[in-house]
Amino acid sequence: TRLMGISAEPQASLSLLELMETKFAEYPKSQAARDLIVAAILENDFMKNLGQQQIEEITDAMSPVSYQPDDLIIKEGDIGSDVFILEEGRVEVSKEGRVLHTMGPGKVFGELAVLYNCTRTASVKAIGLCKLWAIHRQCFQSIMMKTGLIKQKEYMEFLKTVPSFSKLPDEHITKIVDVLEEAVYKQGDYIIRQGAKGVTFYIIRKGTVRVTIKDPDEPGDLNSPPGEKFIRTLGRGDSFGERALTSDDIRTANVIAHSEDVHCLVMDRDSFLVCLHTQLCNSVMTALSCLSNSVHLDQLVPNDNRQ
Ligand code: CMP
Repeated sequence: TRLMGISAEPQASLSLLELMETKFAEYPKSQAARDLIVAAILENDFMKNLGQQQIEEITDAMSPVSYQPDDLIIKEGDIGSDVFILEEGRVEVSKEGRVLHTMGPGKVFGELAVLYNCTRTASVKAIGLCKLWAIHRQCFQSIMMKTGLIKQKEYMEFLKTVPSFSKLPDEHITKIVDVLEEAVYKQGDYIIRQGAKGVTFYIIRKGTVRVTIKDPDEPGDLNSPPGEKFIRTLGRGDSFGERALTSDDIRTANVIAHSEDVHCLVMDRDSFLVCLHTQLCNSVMTALSCLSNSVHLDQLVPNDNRQ
């Protein structure tokens, strides 16, 4: 899942180059403090999907703050300025005067207003003496935007090397890049299962996959598990499952991760239809269907592409 709706307004005028050169102030902290920050981020529903590099940069940039008992750390309705992680002490979360929750060390709070550019959804008060780590919204958003832009540039350059996409105008590729997610699979994972309903389309960015179909007579070998017939191997730049973007596709083959780590760029039907306008959908579908390295799972014929 991507974090949608993150605002990058404050840095909107900075170029990628300027952003990449921006150095955020780093605050020294013990390994224990770093571990606490990372664990808190990974436990938070709204932040756990951040990339590893983003988490590291956020951890570096967090600075220590402390509050006395009864201090109001966050006031409901205010514009959010910081995201906090509690290291010591307890805080009380309340909304319209009603206590909702108390929280102890290792929790993130104040993330909602910063992530979603809304006003503070609740008040947070220090119950006792509190030691916290804080990151300012501008710094947080720059980190988010920086990694977002680097990813965007990488995906763009990659798609330009994929024949099905390289013929599309840049502005179309940019729109596709905007709705792509990256998914990672381990060797042996079924990325697609024959017979299952599918709503996602995949482009292999790294690694290889094996396409197989059910066949009770197959004893299984190095290329396919027992009961499955090996059809072909697909690798970097190959795509599969595009039928799912426009119709209720029942998958007609299995696609199994073959190399150790398989990275796919993934697009689902909702993003495809909602985020791209019809003309673009049509040109992408045309580009995909007239090029041989987009694989229609139901038109597969075995090849000798065994590795
Ligand atoms: P934010 O809206 O930025 O500021 C108030 C914070 O309180 C909010 O982010 C969340 O981190 C936290 N918060 C809001 N509602 C709840 C809740 N029901 N339980 C726990 N924490 C909450």
